[in-house]
Amino acid sequence: MANVEKDTVTGTDTTGHQWDGIKELNNPLPRWWLYVLYATIVWSVGYWVVYPAWPSLSSYTKGVLGYSSRAEMEKDVAAARKAQESWRAKLAAAPIAEIVKDKDLLVYATAGGKAVFAENCQPCHGAGGAGRPGGYPVLADDDWLWGGAPEEILATVRFGVRSGHKDARASEMPRFGEQLKADEIRVLADHVLSLSGKGAKSDTGVKLFEENCIACHGDDGKGNKDLGTPNLADGIWLLGGTRETIAAQIATPRHGVMPAWEGRLDPVALKMVAAYIHALGGGK
Ligand code: HEC
Ligand code: HEC
Repeated sequence: MANVEKDTVTGTDTTGHQWDGIKELNNPLPRWWLYVLYATIVWSVGYWVVYPAWPSLSSYTKGVLGYSSRAEMEKDVAAARKAQESWRAKLAAAPIAEIVKDKDLLVYATAGGKAVFAENCQPCHGAGGAGRPGGYPVLADDDWLWGGAPEEILATVRFGVRSGHKDARASEMPRFGEQLKADEIRVLADHVLSLSGKGAKSDTGVKLFEENCIACHGDDGKGNKDLGTPNLADGIWLLGGTRETIAAQIATPRHGVMPAWEGRLDPVALKMVAAYIHALGGGK
């Protein structure tokens, strides 16, 4: 090549290239580096042969091993589904009372129940069953309208409350605004407050309560889970604990509606969500 000369400082040949008087030394790549490069080229050819590599017009070269990441994934999914199926089969066979006592089943049931709850129940009952004002009960406490035993919870969830389902839980507080005078309702509201130590107790209140309310709410106002009546004596309110909200409930009661979930959730999902609610902390 023209202009090749020896550099006086390093003693290395130059390549003969020159830019604005700056000359390029001819330092070849180290041998080991070149060999590694050649080895990787050979490796890549082997890789093309063994594994899927080159796209073709309609597909791609499959490689002699026939490996496919999709097939691997499908294998994993099938294995996971199989494991899940055996759990689901166990849950389908076991009564709810047994599920809540079996540690392993319960872990699986509550994990599934949590997902079912978040998707279907949270809008009304709040995250973690914390409840919402205006008649959406807390499900994480030990205060139950319709009972907190596993079978009772499952029945409420399956058939709903005043849902129109033929097995739904039902009962209706009468509209006392049509039978009682406004001041009687006020006296009753005070009487209800007095049950949790807040309002004024009066003989008229006791009498009116006995005449009109104990059939459903019980002698002491502590409620009756067969009728879904709230405990009026525990200071926990479904519909609000002020004199006004109580008087409003007596005059023109709300009849809370909880949808029936049978048919919308499969039997295993129903058990899982009931077990989850039971495990939230307030289950009996
Ligand atoms: C549209 C709103 C709504 C949705 C959605 C809903 N609920 Fe309810 N739920 C209610 C209302 C309202 C009540 C109170 C019924 C009453 O007044 O007796 C209730 C009551 C309950 C009770 C009875 C509580 C007690 O103290 O006895 C349980 C258990 C329950 N719901 C579970 C669920 C589960 C599980 C889901 C989801 C699969 C769900 N709910 C979805 C509105 C809803
Ligand atoms: C036929 C049964 C029945 C009778 C009789 C009845 N109630 Fe009720 N009461 C209920 C039911 C059921 C509920 C729950 C309503 C709901 O779930 O939406 C309720 C709810 C209430 C609440 C709301 C409690 C809360 O936690 O927010 C108050 C207050 C109440 N009743 C007071 C009375 C008083 C006072 C009387 C008598 C004048 C009376 N009830 C008579 C069935 C009855």
